[in-house]
Amino acid sequence: MISISEPCTFALFGAMGDLALRKLFPALFQLDRAELLHENTRLLALAREAGDAAYHLGQIEEHLREFVPAEQLEETALARFKARLEYVHVDFLKADDYVTLAERIGDSGTVIAYFATPAAVYGAICENLAKVGLADRTRAVLEKPIGHDLESSRTVNDAVARYFPENRVYRIDHYLGKETVQNLIALRFANSLFETQWNQNYISHVEITVAEKVGIEGRWGYFDKAGQLRDMIQNHLVQLLCLIAMDPPADLSADAIRDEKVKVLKALQPITGEALHTHVVRGQYIAGYSEGRAVPGYLEEENSNPHSDTETFVALRADIRNWRWAGVPFYLRTGKRMPQKLSQIVIHFKEPPHYIFAPEQRMQISNKLIIRLQPDESISLRVMTKEQGLDKGMQLRSGPLQLNFSDAYRSARIPDAYERLLLEVMQGNQNLFVRKDEIEYSWKWCDQLIAGWKRSGDVPKPYAAGSWGPMSSIALITRDGRSWYGDI
Ligand code: BG6
Repeated sequence: MISISEPCTFALFGAMGDLALRKLFPALFQLDRAELLHENTRLLALAREAGDAAYHLGQIEEHLREFVPAEQLEETALARFKARLEYVHVDFLKADDYVTLAERIGDSGTVIAYFATPAAVYGAICENLAKVGLADRTRAVLEKPIGHDLESSRTVNDAVARYFPENRVYRIDHYLGKETVQNLIALRFANSLFETQWNQNYISHVEITVAEKVGIEGRWGYFDKAGQLRDMIQNHLVQLLCLIAMDPPADLSADAIRDEKVKVLKALQPITGEALHTHVVRGQYIAGYSEGRAVPGYLEEENSNPHSDTETFVALRADIRNWRWAGVPFYLRTGKRMPQKLSQIVIHFKEPPHYIFAPEQRMQISNKLIIRLQPDESISLRVMTKEQGLDKGMQLRSGPLQLNFSDAYRSARIPDAYERLLLEVMQGNQNLFVRKDEIEYSWKWCDQLIAGWKRSGDVPKPYAAGSWGPMSSIALITRDGRSWYGDI
């Protein structure tokens, strides 16, 4: 049973930005609509854009109408939400503006400061909050990207740590708020069926695919400095890998879970030397087709630099150096402009040790656990059964034992990841947030890869928009005698 969060003042820095308008306000609205916000909770939209409050509040409402399904935007819920909402003009770098902000916030109660701004100003916001005496009762929520490598992420984290102890810092990775990702914990640690098999004795390999159909969507400037490795692998895919690979935590406390994730990160084999060529593929999309429509290549997108060698696709083989996972590759793959939006994890179990069926069925006989995050949320276990019918003999087929969340719990709306995360911050629970050392180990692993690319002058391989990536990403896995699950 979810409880109503304690009363707080939720101060959203960067309230007129894309993330706030498309994701955060709709998520706050849904929490309010579900009556999970305390009646005294206030929402402060903080932005440096000029213009009067009525105009900005109008913008927020307009976006709610666009991003919340019409049937969920009941007028009474909307009126309640608007009554909580205030707009405050704040120049994030100007200490004086925080005096006004502190007056608006008042003397008591928890403050949640959500930084939906560039990470370069996190330190200044923290310092200014501290100057007006707000830091001690504030939880700081940090959006990604936190830096673009280990060193810059340390600079940001250290600037925040000067004013906020780690137990009041909430680093967002929105994948951790997705229902099915949380279900990984339930699946693994509430079912002895899986956990007893969850190691190199029974699992042959693991695939994690996060494919997006969209291209760069007007974000070229940001994306080109990052690339797919920093934008997706360093955070979302590495977090998924940790949740699959970690040992059972002693309990569900934030630090017990995060300690186990860090052990996995420390055990990740650096990808260097020859492995840079055999275990990693970088790609960049060229013009192609998406849903039958011609779409431009990455270098022809709006505001692009036609000489960029930033990758929009990465496939790699990660190895974890410990007893549980020795010899079990984790194949990670993510890209823009792929044929469909698909996020899924496939755990491939080993074949039975002794084979007694017809030799021509040999290839199909391993079990697979398929955990689908997007577009639909489901968990399916592919098991071998016999074909029905007198004429079939002992002919095998692979079929699913399936739990499709939207079918199984038809009445329940699947919440957006941000709803879950915002609620957890309000409840002071850090389970679904990333600790400083997790980010740092993950950067360390990615940094050596990026350094290797630089040293070897690696250029991304082209792939047509609407395809599953460069041919060499297929070779990456077929070289090990395997294939990406379900590619068509
Ligand atoms: C963000 C990345 O973190 O995740 C984006 O910056 C990406 O580039 C997005 O599109 C994908 O999130 P989701 O929830 O749509 O899979």
